[in-house]
Amino acid sequence: MHTFKLCSRSLTDCPGTSSQTAGKSAACAGCPNQSACATAPKGPDPDLAVIAARMRGIKHKILVLSGKGGVGKSTFSAQLAFALASKGKEVGLLDIDICGPSIPKMLGLEGQEIHQSNLGWSPVYVEDNLAVMSIGFMLPNPDDAVIWRGPRKNGLIKQFLKDVNWGELDYLIVDAPPGTSDEHITIAQCLQASSPADGAVIVSTPQV
Ligand SMILES: Nc1ncnc2c1ncn2[C@@H]1O[C@H](COP(=O)(O)OP(=O)(O)O)[C@@H](O)[C@H]1O
Ligand SMILES: [Mg+2]
Repeated sequence: MHTFKLCSRSLTDCPGTSSQTAGKSAACAGCPNQSACATAPKGPDPDLAVIAARMRGIKHKILVLSGKGGVGKSTFSAQLAFALASKGKEVGLLDIDICGPSIPKMLGLEGQEIHQSNLGWSPVYVEDNLAVMSIGFMLPNPDDAVIWRGPRKNGLIKQFLKDVNWGELDYLIVDAPPGTSDEHITIAQCLQASSPADGAVIVSTPQV
């Protein structure tokens, strides 16, 4: 697993957050994250094995990303999902834009609810071979702003990856929020637990 170096003072010497010496090595002295690293659980994240097992039935994973919002990520993700499904592929579309989930609205799925079974959370099916999962299905009012700190967002993304019962998929398309932040690090790390994403599509528009 790739370890992200969180300490800004001595990046090259930072032992990494999952190291047994996290927060305790000489390079950690004075780092603002020292006490967090020293007290956090060490070693590989146990969730990663569960995620890897879940991802085993997914042949290809594609992330859709951008530096800023409103450039067409969700539109592109939805179109790509429909295009692949129309070719007869088994497709899953996962919306991890926790603060602005737009996939339910775009696909006419507002008000749909997620059902649970002993196999996990069942996604919402647009067609037999097109399954959709979004935080939007879990919010009581789609117009409410979601104001969450990083750890809570990471927790939900992990839960999506662990608990959604996609079954066998040819493609899982992940519609990400704008930027390069918590959600992106979490999804990249979690997907890597099984096999890394096949690629990322970066959506951009010209600056005017
Ligand atoms: N290729 C395009 N040309 C023109 N408008 C677009 C295009 N793609 C998306 N849009 C519009 O831009 C707006 C933002 O798109 P959206 O897919 O929600 O962006 P993001 O997910 O990056 O925030 C929407 O109103 C959408 O209809
Ligand atoms: Mg979007």
